[in-house]
Amino acid sequence: MEDDRLVIRVPVIAANWKMHKGPTETRQFLEGFLPGLHGDGGSPEVVICPPFVSLEAAVAACEGSPVEVAAQNMHFEEQGAYTGEVSAPMLVELGVDGVVLGHSERRQDFGETDENLARKMVTAVSAGLTPILCVGETEEERRSDETEAVLSRQVLTDLAELHDEQLERVVIAYEPIWAIGTGLTASVEQAEEAAATVRELVRTRDAEAAEKVRILYGGSVKPENAAELLAPADVDGALVGGASLSPEDFAAIVAAAPTS
Ligand code: 13P
Repeated sequence: MEDDRLVIRVPVIAANWKMHKGPTETRQFLEGFLPGLHGDGGSPEVVICPPFVSLEAAVAACEGSPVEVAAQNMHFEEQGAYTGEVSAPMLVELGVDGVVLGHSERRQDFGETDENLARKMVTAVSAGLTPILCVGETEEERRSDETEAVLSRQVLTDLAELHDEQLERVVIAYEPIWAIGTGLTASVEQAEEAAATVRELVRTRDAEAAEKVRILYGGSVKPENAAELLAPADVDGALVGGASLSPEDFAAIVAAAPTS
């Protein structure tokens, strides 16, 4: 069973750099990180998510390597009067492979809504970008036993506009907000339970997609705790913030991913 899972779902280890690293630092990171990477069959998929201005440098540096590049947001329209925004076709033109959508920092600080996200998910998948959809509850919501309800609302609304056959192309990151940048992690049991809940929610849409969708854990993942957090059957990788800024630490987290 365990082996089947790994054959079907290749783990994903993604670096969300947030508002860190311009083009120069991006190149420096990749010069340090890429040579140590073993891109053979048993490896996880590795994704770097730099700020918009560093995407081009990242794509150029990753060319010829197995590392993929994703943006941290995008607009749902292909073009238009949306000052300060970036569209899916623009990301595709740069050679970007994916896009993080619905990170809690965008939901909390920039008014990202599930309705917008539903549109963004369709735009991303239709453009050929792999969306990494972030979901997760606040500390208050967990305390009042609302985690499942929050995940249900987010997952079902954000995926609502996708056709069933598009669902398997989505990556979903469970990121409890109370564990982001706090040094607190979910326990392995909490990560496992939430990932299983997310998979069951996808199953209510399509059983085959539920088996194929990669579900990541995010929230204070470090080299020291990565192996443990990545072990549960329904956790297929990690979305890493702070620890992904160091090539050595991120490489150690990649090395901790289960191999197929
Ligand atoms: P930290 O790893 O810094 O807690 O951030 C997690 C995160 O928000 C990844 O998207």
